Amino acid sequence: MKHLIDKLYETKSLEKQEFIELIQNRSKDDEEYLFKLARGVSQKIFGNKIYLRGLIEFTNYCRNDCYYCGIRKSNQNADRYRLSKEEILSCCEQGHKLGFRTFVLQGGEDGYYTDEKIVDIVSSIRQEYPDCAITLSMGEKSRKSYQKFFDAGANRYLLRHETANEEHYKKLHPENLSLQNRKRCLMNLKEIGYQVGCGFMVGSPFQTVQNIAEDLLFIKELSPQMIGIGPFIAHHDTCFANEPNGSVELTLFLVAVIRLMIPNALIPATTALGTLDRRGREQGILAGANVLMPNLSPVKVRKKYALYDNKICTGEEAAECNVCLRNRVSSVGYEIIENRGDFKEI
Ligand code: 5AD
Ligand code: FES
Repeated sequence: MKHLIDKLYETKSLEKQEFIELIQNRSKDDEEYLFKLARGVSQKIFGNKIYLRGLIEFTNYCRNDCYYCGIRKSNQNADRYRLSKEEILSCCEQGHKLGFRTFVLQGGEDGYYTDEKIVDIVSSIRQEYPDCAITLSMGEKSRKSYQKFFDAGANRYLLRHETANEEHYKKLHPENLSLQNRKRCLMNLKEIGYQVGCGFMVGSPFQTVQNIAEDLLFIKELSPQMIGIGPFIAHHDTCFANEPNGSVELTLFLVAVIRLMIPNALIPATTALGTLDRRGREQGILAGANVLMPNLSPVKVRKKYALYDNKICTGEEAAECNVCLRNRVSSVGYEIIENRGDFKEI
């Protein structure tokens, strides 16, 4: 498959059929060749620097009922919590001391946080930490709401598309959610001026190689600043409790493919990767990822934000993960950089 990898490297994309062929016929040698190219591209743009994003999981209430997700509305066993504005600000304070210059507010779609509340929280963070980027990840909202948050000082928004195939989307989500609306949200965010992140789970139930090729083409078309992919991991209280987990190896392969497609993208080595493999995040970096998203949530709520089973770093303080991550990053020859790590045009 070397010829397809070379073509991908040179033209930054492939035809759908070529993506399928590459994924289906990849060998260990192809993988090494691809990783090496992806690392080279990443190092040329970012050097050996890895960006940190401090993740604040501020609510696990969710009005949605996605079949794969541990905090889905119908999971009666989820122990629900919300962080107050003061708690969120104190996470930021702690993160700022540890060198974080990006805060990611992530949560379920929780009606308790009205636009006014979010605007208030975002403005306060903006005021206290003018040198930091604020990223939101709170699902589908109206364009008007997105605009209000942006005006209050938010810079980036993460909204994984989950799958770019309509039929597959329906197999992962209840009737009231649609791929069309998801895409509309992503377009709105982009038009407003956010740096936007999309992404998908590798090995989600019913996913085919064709679907993955469609995801890659969708990513190419949207051309987002950030792309988050991680393996699907079953959660015991969901419809997909007995489904097999996604493949770490395929996830790493796709991280590298995406690095070649969008050389300057911000691509995290996800916590899900680290959950399925002890060195998953390090391997992610070696496949071309350049972002880590450690948890800044108070330890008392961490286990409650369980999107999937066995999530790592739910018992550690932010400071502990910070030391741990620095060691992990340097073990593969990279270094954490303490700045906002904005997307740069090339
Ligand atoms: N396994 C892996 N990733 C998951 N997510 C949600 N549930 C799971 C799961 N069971 C991902 C989704 C979502 C992101 C916040 O977490 O892709 O967009
Ligand atoms: Fe959290 Fe290692 S990064 S314990």
